[in-house]
Amino acid sequence: MESKAWWKKAVIYQIYPRSFYDSNGDGIGDLQGIVKKLDYLKELGVDAVWLSPVYRSPQDDNGYDISDYRDIDPIFGTLQDMDELIFEAKKRGIRIIMDLVLNHTSDEHPWFQEAKKGRNHPYHDYYVWRDGKEGVCPNSLKSTFGGSAWEWVPECGQYYLHQFSAKQPDLNWENPKVRQEIYRMIQWWVNRGVGGFRLDVIDLIGKETDAMVMAEGKMLHPYLKEMSREVFRDSTLVTVGEAWSATPETALLYSNPDGSELSMVFQFEHMVLDQQKGKEKWDLAPLPFVEFKRTLAKWQEALYKKGWNSLFFENHDVPRSVSRFGDDGEYREVCAKMLATCLHGMQGTPYIYQGQELGMTNVRLDISDYRDIELLNMYRERMAAGYSREEIMESIYAKGRDNARTPMQWTGEKNAGFTTGTPWIKVNPNCRQINAAEALAREDSIYHYYQKLIRLRKTEDVLAEGKFELLMPEDEAVFAYTRTEGSTCLLVACNFTAQEAACPVLKAWEQAKALIYNYDGRPEHGKLRPYEAVILKKAERETGL
Ligand code: GLC
Ligand code: CA
Repeated sequence: MESKAWWKKAVIYQIYPRSFYDSNGDGIGDLQGIVKKLDYLKELGVDAVWLSPVYRSPQDDNGYDISDYRDIDPIFGTLQDMDELIFEAKKRGIRIIMDLVLNHTSDEHPWFQEAKKGRNHPYHDYYVWRDGKEGVCPNSLKSTFGGSAWEWVPECGQYYLHQFSAKQPDLNWENPKVRQEIYRMIQWWVNRGVGGFRLDVIDLIGKETDAMVMAEGKMLHPYLKEMSREVFRDSTLVTVGEAWSATPETALLYSNPDGSELSMVFQFEHMVLDQQKGKEKWDLAPLPFVEFKRTLAKWQEALYKKGWNSLFFENHDVPRSVSRFGDDGEYREVCAKMLATCLHGMQGTPYIYQGQELGMTNVRLDISDYRDIELLNMYRERMAAGYSREEIMESIYAKGRDNARTPMQWTGEKNAGFTTGTPWIKVNPNCRQINAAEALAREDSIYHYYQKLIRLRKTEDVLAEGKFELLMPEDEAVFAYTRTEGSTCLLVACNFTAQEAACPVLKAWEQAKALIYNYDGRPEHGKLRPYEAVILKKAERETGL
């Protein structure tokens, strides 16, 4: 029988469908494109694919603004294509995880179209409205994408709440009808055969709008428990809650092993350290490495045997990890492998974001070539606020979401082999060197290194269940830790710098078996070369490590 917690040993691959593979030459990736690349994913060894939203949508926020939860957007294909994708993936042992955007819909969703007609309309209370006077917002809540979170509708004489763009009105979770409609819709997808769900900004659904508590409001966990009871319980579905505000304490609620809420939490504490404290992500600061280690270690310890975390350094909302945490030039290859080693050695479910397995990098485009609503709004606001153009562009190069959204680099040919037409966003010019065709043909490529790491997850139980212990916590160059279960112990040692680094702990491990390493030979003499990484294994735990 299939284990309920299969996802503890699984590796999940995230696809951003628009940028993955275009099968019909319109410049936009689509479902048939994904079907065509399933063998590539099977070969890599992943267990599940999380698809960013493909539902019908005006695409104001690239599909995170849904106008019909029960249909596929024509730019991606049809429901039949979706059924085919689920079926073909299943044949290859891959589950399809849908992205559920439940905090808001598109303003073009029929519910909102009705809701905005008037206060007494049946769907009106599907959304969050407040009385007011035109020009005087109900309170000072800001939208994540800039400006006020309130939008005036003259027909109602009211404002509606949108925590993201004005085309993404917030759903009113206090209304039981909204919740029931959502559960029925989820069940409809379960019946179609999907393997699980990633729940977009789920920490926001319990919002207490008047108290201006948006994340982790009082009703959040009761709602999650209700949703779990109604649709997730007693299934092998994997459920992943995106929660920017989760703390190790609240994570134990989201991911309680009793299954009362979700399988795991997807939190960002380690991903928001390289910015000025109390400011926005655009206000750049160098990565405080010791704090980065301490943060990851804190989560490892807090959730041990009590919860479950996602492991990731990349997704569609953050920059490329080689560019951000390491080196995307001379040491790009070893660096990409080092970051992968560091991440996959920890406890939790690892996520690979499309192109990460190739070591894809950030991009520098002309402002007119960027597409992301968040980035473009920020550009406009900061220009108006008097920031210099150079400073704004540096922020975009470092943190813009489009860094991760340039097309997947399949080949070194025109448009990276992503499309025969004109891509919806420019291809990174480094596709001539960095592409899947090249990586598949070369035994020591980053892709093949990921393949090995994924296999290790399956063969080394200690990776799933072993206890984590951080070593050399104050060291400014090396991230080293052990994972221990019973008499088995692993040492993971990673050099995060472009200089040779001392790692004395390695000396006690000279006789240990090397499971994986990213240079020609394993590290020697208690030192790590630039961006060097290794996982070593001892069967008997020796004292004094
Ligand atoms: C999540 C998504 C992001 C989207 C936002 C609003 O953070 O990952 O891409 O813009 O929610 O739905
Ligand atoms: Ca297409």
